[in-house]
Amino acid sequence: MYSEKVMDHFNNPRNVGEIENPSGVGTVGNAKCGDIMRMYFDIDEQGVIRDVKFKTFGCGAAVATSSMATELVKGKTVQEALTVTNKAVMEALDGLPPVKVHCSLLAEEAIHAALWDYAQKKGIVIEGLEKPVEDIGEKEG
Ligand code: FES
Repeated sequence: MYSEKVMDHFNNPRNVGEIENPSGVGTVGNAKCGDIMRMYFDIDEQGVIRDVKFKTFGCGAAVATSSMATELVKGKTVQEALTVTNKAVMEALDGLPPVKVHCSLLAEEAIHAALWDYAQKKGIVIEGLEKPVEDIGEKEG
């Protein structure tokens, strides 16, 4: 039911961890399944994502998609990172079962939330980036 790539990223997730003083950090969650994903970006002066880490408290597909998402955004500019949609992540993983598509959405939302945080901190506007629906990072409890 899962592709080899999904299993690989689930068993050996890339870029797990945290970044201290990140350029941007975003936390998103899915209220239905309760899964949570947090993504940290280290972005240089040219707007290139030079490092990215994530933490996912969630299902295997959420772990695999966040792992793949970090691989895809690493080395990209913030503008290019916007093209890393959940579809792009799923394609890179050779697909996900339909019931797991929402897990890949978390990865896209986490990227957007972290980019939004970066833009807020820098006082810049990233064209095409909309305010994340929810960034649960700042809420209490
Ligand atoms: Fe919720 Fe996968 S079941 S993120």
